[in-house]
Amino acid sequence: MGMHYISIFFLLFLSSLCKSDDQLTQAKPLTHDDKLVSKSGDFALGFFSLTTSNKSFYLGIWYHSLPGPHTVVWVANRDNPIVAPLSAKLIVTNNSQMVLFDSRGHNIWMTPSNITAGAPGAYAELSNSGNFVLRLPSNTDIWQSFDHPTDTILAGMRFLVSHKAQVITRLVAWKGSDDPSSGDLSISGDPSAPDLQLVTWNKTRPYCRTVWNGVSVSGGTYLSNTSSILYQTVVNSGDEFYFTYAISDNSVYTRVMLDHTGKYKFLAWNNHSSSWALISEYPTAACELYASCGPFSYCDLTQMVPTCQCLEGFETVDDANFSNGCRRKQALKCGNQSHFVALPGMKVRDKVLHIHNRSLDECEAECRRNCSCVAYAYANLSGAIGMADPSRCLVWSGELVDIWKATTGGESLYLRLADSPVYKGISSVKIIILIIACVLLLTCVCLVWMYKYRAGTLQKKEKQKKLSRGYFSTSNNLEGKHTEFPFVSYGDILSATNFFADSNLLGRGGFGNVYKGTLEGGNEVAVKRLSQSSGQGIVEFKNEVILIAKLQHKNLVGLLGSCIHEDEKLLIYEYLPNKSLDVFLFNASRKHVLDWSTRLKIIKGIARGLLYLHQDSRLTIIHRDLKASNILLDTEMNPKISDFGMARIFATNQNQANTTRVVGTYGYMSPEYAMGGAFSVKSDTYSFGVLLLEIVSGLKINSPQLITNFSSLITYAWRLWEDGNAIELVDSSFVASFRLHEVLRCIHVGLLCVQDHARDRPLMSSVMFMFENESAPLPAPKQPVYFAQGTCADEEGREITSNSVNAVSITTVDGR
Ligand SMILES: *[C@@H]1O[C@H](CO)[C@@H](O)[C@H](O)[C@H]1NC(C)=O
Ligand SMILES: *[C@@H]1O[C@H](CO)[C@@H](O)[C@H](O)[C@H]1NC(C)=O
Ligand SMILES: *[C@@H]1O[C@H](CO)[C@@H](O)[C@H](O)[C@H]1NC(C)=O
Ligand SMILES: *[C@@H]1O[C@H](CO)[C@@H](O)[C@H](O)[C@H]1NC(C)=O
Ligand SMILES: *[C@@H]1O[C@H](CO)[C@@H](O)[C@H](O)[C@H]1NC(C)=O
Ligand SMILES: *[C@@H]1O[C@H](CO)[C@@H](O)[C@H](O)[C@H]1NC(C)=O
Ligand SMILES: *[C@@H]1O[C@H](CO)[C@@H](O)[C@H](O)[C@H]1NC(C)=O
Ligand SMILES: *[C@@H]1O[C@H](CO)[C@@H](O)[C@H](O)[C@H]1NC(C)=O
Ligand SMILES: *[C@@H]1O[C@H](CO)[C@@H](O)[C@H](O)[C@H]1NC(C)=O
Ligand SMILES: *[C@@H]1O[C@H](CO)[C@@H](O)[C@H](O)[C@H]1NC(C)=O
Ligand SMILES: *[C@@H]1O[C@H](CO)[C@@H](O)[C@H](O)[C@H]1NC(C)=O
Repeated sequence: MGMHYISIFFLLFLSSLCKSDDQLTQAKPLTHDDKLVSKSGDFALGFFSLTTSNKSFYLGIWYHSLPGPHTVVWVANRDNPIVAPLSAKLIVTNNSQMVLFDSRGHNIWMTPSNITAGAPGAYAELSNSGNFVLRLPSNTDIWQSFDHPTDTILAGMRFLVSHKAQVITRLVAWKGSDDPSSGDLSISGDPSAPDLQLVTWNKTRPYCRTVWNGVSVSGGTYLSNTSSILYQTVVNSGDEFYFTYAISDNSVYTRVMLDHTGKYKFLAWNNHSSSWALISEYPTAACELYASCGPFSYCDLTQMVPTCQCLEGFETVDDANFSNGCRRKQALKCGNQSHFVALPGMKVRDKVLHIHNRSLDECEAECRRNCSCVAYAYANLSGAIGMADPSRCLVWSGELVDIWKATTGGESLYLRLADSPVYKGISSVKIIILIIACVLLLTCVCLVWMYKYRAGTLQKKEKQKKLSRGYFSTSNNLEGKHTEFPFVSYGDILSATNFFADSNLLGRGGFGNVYKGTLEGGNEVAVKRLSQSSGQGIVEFKNEVILIAKLQHKNLVGLLGSCIHEDEKLLIYEYLPNKSLDVFLFNASRKHVLDWSTRLKIIKGIARGLLYLHQDSRLTIIHRDLKASNILLDTEMNPKISDFGMARIFATNQNQANTTRVVGTYGYMSPEYAMGGAFSVKSDTYSFGVLLLEIVSGLKINSPQLITNFSSLITYAWRLWEDGNAIELVDSSFVASFRLHEVLRCIHVGLLCVQDHARDRPLMSSVMFMFENESAPLPAPKQPVYFAQGTCADEEGREITSNSVNAVSITTVDGR
């Protein structure tokens, strides 16, 4: 008797083991009281019903281990519920199809029949990531739920927005919080430009939009309350455009979903409160809803409370009611009596015509020649990966609708306005004043012109004389402040660089090209030509140039002058013939030039330069793009930090800032900056740590051979350090010259600098102290978990072009 009970118990136990399997095979269908559970126990697939009153059953996937009602992430038969569930079952057929039958034998749902070519023996598996995969015995996946999402994107899933300009995937919201059937709201790429914007639809009408840049971006954030990092990537490979995200710690549950109210949400499970915590959502402001500000008005998100505003040159149709939009103060006449004004920071995409293969001038001409064109925007995306045509000329006709002004990430919109606006109601006195002002202005212009003309002829005459001093044509007083800072004339620069000849090109940076120039008198300089789509005003440019010019340190490259000419903004730096550190470090035939003492000198020099930027100058300056190619070397191999293109100047009492415009170079960016846009002096410490490890190892942060086994140089260095083999990291080209304790100390400092948490990283002053006091004990580094995902790892270490297109500011004074 006892034996009998035991064997029954054992059988039950066995069957329950089978039941919580993660596989569905031909021999073992899934019945309504059964479920599949992923190996990790995180996800379950089975039949569920959400309301007790109404007997609708669905086949779906939910989080298995969460308390409370199911958090459903996928539904197979959302629009075809099972009403008679008792003997409903999911089977795999002989020809490798999955079919869902209800009790009456009705076919409720199935996978396509043409994907298997009749190959038998397939089985389906619920993976640990929540993906339900139908797989052939040959290990070929023929179908997966991740390719057919309902309303949710999970970590590791690829949300394929478009393929060859065709919209592919659409998330469709539930009808209600307990009704999984397809609701009215959905989100997909915009059919007319799937790589430019995502649209949330209410049936077929746009509800709100998210603007893409059209280029690949990656970045992420620390999840609060956990030590894990959320890593988001948007990839535009030319053919494919997709979004994906990953999480460094898979025990943290996250999901992205479109809820039934039309909000696109990023959620994370909070273990303490046992609930889903909102990480981000949109839309948030009322005026973000599609066209809620009428034509020619925009939603101003730069304000505390976002409100609608009229575009420049426009006024409201109805006073204080923006739903009817704004109208021109001055009617636009077709022909040549119009000009364009640049409105920076705008996000526009709707009803746009994308004209291919145009330069900026051609783009403007395109707009000018069509009477119905009201605005254009231009970007040169060269530098973005995998783009056949890097130019992006967008033109708008008729009405401009659904525009936002954003603090970051917008671009300049060139709005067409009528020339010489004459305002109604101007009194004759005003007109007279205006005329006098014009006359005065004209006189000034004439005088300046005459002065320039004379100066020009003088210059020609003196050209042969070889002025020794002479490349400073003018010197400006800015806002009354006295400064000796030289502004160089454009003509001088043209002749110095041979009209920006390609043969003079030294390199390309995120913000423009750098040319070698020879000024009269034989002085060699490097001229940086900021790209023209700059949103920065002349006053800011001058201010910042003057600030940078005041920085004098032997480990910073010297700024000699600058020039502003129409749209051109140029910076003139000292010329360093040895080029940059990467030219030596990563070149097999040149790396031997850098013996250990040279490398150590370079490391210490960079540290000193950074310390000066962070602390010892009167300002706190964050470089934000420290990398090997931005370290120039003089003839004695002294390092000089260059390229302040992205530097940010802090008020001295400020110690952290945020930007959603993450610019920098992948691999060198600290986790909190790459992901959340938060940066501080510790972000530079991180980049310094990466650079230090590169100098010691001679390996690039993302060199492909490392990525095969370790996700990056950091992981590799950590592994060797942990195993006590740190010395293996050392570049073989200088093994003969190194001093062991120095090298080990460097690697140790490097690992401290690349800690995941900014608070664990030393300040540059401590780094200097660590180098100067060789016997001072160092804290033990923690394991860096920040990881690089294969798809977004950019082996060339190319710049992330999240917004470099329009982010041309050289620095921004942050005085908040
Ligand atoms: C059950 O409710 C769902 C949505 O709430 C509805 O689509 C379905 O028709 C209902 N079924 C029955 C049998 O009432
Ligand atoms: C599947 O194939 C087996 C033999 O190969 C056959 O006995 C069985 O009836 C088939 N089942 C279906 C549903 O076709
Ligand atoms: C299967 O059929 C669908 C339409 O029924 C079609 O869109 C798809 O391209 C086909 N797939 C293959 C692999 O033939
Ligand atoms: C979607 O449009 C309908 C009218 O067609 C409206 O009643 C509903 O409120 C809209 N949904 C949202 C989320 O705005
Ligand atoms: C949350 O709780 C679950 C179950 O208690 C545990 O397995 C998981 O590791 C926890 N996650 C985190 C991030 O603490
Ligand atoms: C972090 O914790 C706070 C307080 O416990 C909570 O309000 C917040 O939602 C949590 N955030 C996440 C992402 O879990
Ligand atoms: C603004 O104008 C729209 C359309 O004419 C109207 O429906 C709305 O009530 C007006 N709002 C206010 C606050 O006057
Ligand atoms: C506009 O100006 C261009 C040259 O400046 C001229 O060729 C063209 O005819 C003008 N168009 C009109 C409509 O005046
Ligand atoms: C742009 O020009 C390139 C080369 O000139 C050509 O291959 C490409 O097809 C053009 N693209 C379009 C959209 O016209
Ligand atoms: C875009 O910029 C690159 C490099 O800066 C340049 O070579 C290319 O000609 C530019 N393209 C256009 C269309 O302006
Ligand atoms: C002007 O633009 C409109 C709208 O994009 C277009 O339909 C029209 O063909 C254009 N006209 C010319 C001459 O390009």
